[in-house]
Amino acid sequence: MLFPPFGWSQFLTAPLDSGPPRASRIRVRRFAGPAAYAGAMEPIRIAHLTDQHVGRVTPWAIQHEAVALTNAERPDLVVITGDFVCHSQLYLDQLIELVREFRAPVIGVLGNHDHWAGADEVAAALRRGGVEVLRNDSTIITVRRQRLQVVGLDDAYTGHAQVDKAVAGLRRDLPTLALSHIAEEADRLWLYGIPLVLAGHTHGGQITVARLHEIAVGKIGGHKYVHGLYGTRQPHRGAVVTGAVYVGAGIGASVMPFRIGERGKREITIFEFGRRPGEFEEPDQEQAPLPGRAPSLRKMRRRAEKVIRRRTRRSLRRTVELDRV
Ligand SMILES: [Fe+2]
Repeated sequence: MLFPPFGWSQFLTAPLDSGPPRASRIRVRRFAGPAAYAGAMEPIRIAHLTDQHVGRVTPWAIQHEAVALTNAERPDLVVITGDFVCHSQLYLDQLIELVREFRAPVIGVLGNHDHWAGADEVAAALRRGGVEVLRNDSTIITVRRQRLQVVGLDDAYTGHAQVDKAVAGLRRDLPTLALSHIAEEADRLWLYGIPLVLAGHTHGGQITVARLHEIAVGKIGGHKYVHGLYGTRQPHRGAVVTGAVYVGAGIGASVMPFRIGERGKREITIFEFGRRPGEFEEPDQEQAPLPGRAPSLRKMRRRAEKVIRRRTRRSLRRTVELDRV
């Protein structure tokens, strides 16, 4: 979330509760994959989750419910687009436990909260939990006897995304999907022929009544892509390079637990690769982007400094703790 309001600190100290057993706190949305792959492959099902933010703010029952709902869809692959944690490394054991519950291969990329909490440590925990973590890298997995290429960008919000590095050695002959915490990176990934990018970070704005999410995340936050599907899944026409990007509303939150309004609901999104857009009813149409505003160099420097500051603080704390032993 980009605009954490003040006064929510009570939620940071609330217990990681188990919550009441309800069935409808998370919705499942379903879309076809890129048109280019329709009929060219046996359909495969990819489940997308984002912004789990394992920690005190999001009830533990919701985390388990998200995994159970995902497993019930019987996906061939699960992809997660960052912000696995909230503010610290306190819940890495729970994160490992959670990702181990997925009943399909899991590929993930990191988000800004993961970098603030310690990117190397979060990535190591995810790998212990069986997740393949892509940090400006790509991988090829075999799903239903077909190869699928997945490109994973490191977090662009904190300045860690390197598209050139992520796409180095990319195979043009394989169906490809890209993951990025920040959706705006799709603009550059499309140039490499990647037709669909999955992203997170915005939480769909969380409060979406009266289009507040478009004001807060779009106008104030400067995002072109706020929630849902943007661009086109149709093949490129002429010299115009296009593609699609999907911004998931996410599962958890790091500061403000509320989600008000249809577009801000917690969600799991299913992409049916190999099926044509229009073949079945989808929850939304492809949308045109908002104007957006790229972050200034000053802002990017401040974001990078925050990561370094937190890393330094962690290492000082560790040194003090070692001195005490
Ligand atoms: Fe987030």
